[in-house]
Amino acid sequence: MQKIRWGVLGCGRIAKKFASDLQYVQGAELVAAGSRSHHIADEFSKEFGVAHIHDGYEALVNDKEVDVIYVATPHGLHHQHALLCLRHQKAVLCEKAFAMNSRQAKEMIDAAKEENVFLMEALWSKFTPQYEIVQQIIKKGELGEIQSMFANFGFIPMQPYPSRLYEPALGGGSLLDIGIYNVFYVLSVLGRPDIIEASMTPAHSGVDEQCAATFRYNNGAIAQLFSTFSSNLATEADICGRKGRIRLTPRFYNPTTAVIEFYSGRTDSKEIIPHHSEPGFGYQYQARHVCECLRQGLTESPVMAHADTLLIMETLDRIRHAAGIRYEAD
Ligand SMILES: NC(=O)c1ccc[n+]([C@@H]2O[C@H](COP(=O)([O-])OP(=O)(O)OC[C@H]3O[C@@H](n4cnc5c(N)ncnc54)[C@H](OP(=O)(O)O)[C@@H]3O)[C@@H](O)[C@H]2O)c1
Repeated sequence: MQKIRWGVLGCGRIAKKFASDLQYVQGAELVAAGSRSHHIADEFSKEFGVAHIHDGYEALVNDKEVDVIYVATPHGLHHQHALLCLRHQKAVLCEKAFAMNSRQAKEMIDAAKEENVFLMEALWSKFTPQYEIVQQIIKKGELGEIQSMFANFGFIPMQPYPSRLYEPALGGGSLLDIGIYNVFYVLSVLGRPDIIEASMTPAHSGVDEQCAATFRYNNGAIAQLFSTFSSNLATEADICGRKGRIRLTPRFYNPTTAVIEFYSGRTDSKEIIPHHSEPGFGYQYQARHVCECLRQGLTESPVMAHADTLLIMETLDRIRHAAGIRYEAD
């Protein structure tokens, strides 16, 4: 099996979880870490046994022994950092939110195409076994036509929270940080909404402290999505059809449990997803997929395609437009 050599760009919180999960990916090796600070890169490298420590991101993208770079900086910097990697012929797995807006996302995708280099959004939930099980139930029609969805994601950031959560230049706000999971899940079941209504409560810095959106569809379906930094929510999702519904809980984007209930005839409800049998945080599935794509010489994932990312970004733009959330990058 061809070994895929990974580098991490930005050694923050999620980079550590991802680095830890790479140990469960056969044929993958974390060989390099780039940080703005030598001290941080050094600590990261010691913790994860990384061979190449780079002061700054330029040095990382020039490392000839790196095949693919995981961009783990705040979303306001993804455009700049993904382009830096792509222009140096490095494949990229870029954290969510992929960019600040669809214009930036398109520029990143265009650059990947020009350079003929792999680029994928790290929407890890799509690669978990739970996601596939739920999709199969819906596709088989077990729930009937889906008429409504509810998805909420909320937490109160613990001190000291990362500056990126509230800093406008870094893409702060609940929508791009966590509301994106609501958007991803609703799109994956109901598709592109025909109408979007949205409103938000501004935080002290002007970014959205909380954001509520309603998606309306010409076939009558409605979805309600809510994200917040001011309360700890259940972070559950309900997918409701004419025959039954699924509740994904407790974290719908990587649930341990999905309960399916039928309205009539059958009174049973069943727990369809057992607790994780694999160790790790759940990021190993997407990393495995990226390795497989690279071994096959692909420049785009067939699972998390560029069009999927553009649809998410375009939908986030529409929500922001309706709710009055603006960034300098717009
Ligand atoms: N998939 C998931 O489950 C998940 C979970 C959490 C976050 N995320 C995403 O991952 C990204 C990073 O989130 P995080 O929680 O890891 O953030 P974080 O802890 O603040 O780490 C971000 C890292 O980016 C680098 N960085 C470069 N320029 C920066 C700047 N101007 N300000 C702050 N940091 C800067 C820093 O690394 P160096 O100092 O080493 O250069 C920093 O440690 C975000 O886009 C977020 O949405 C995804």
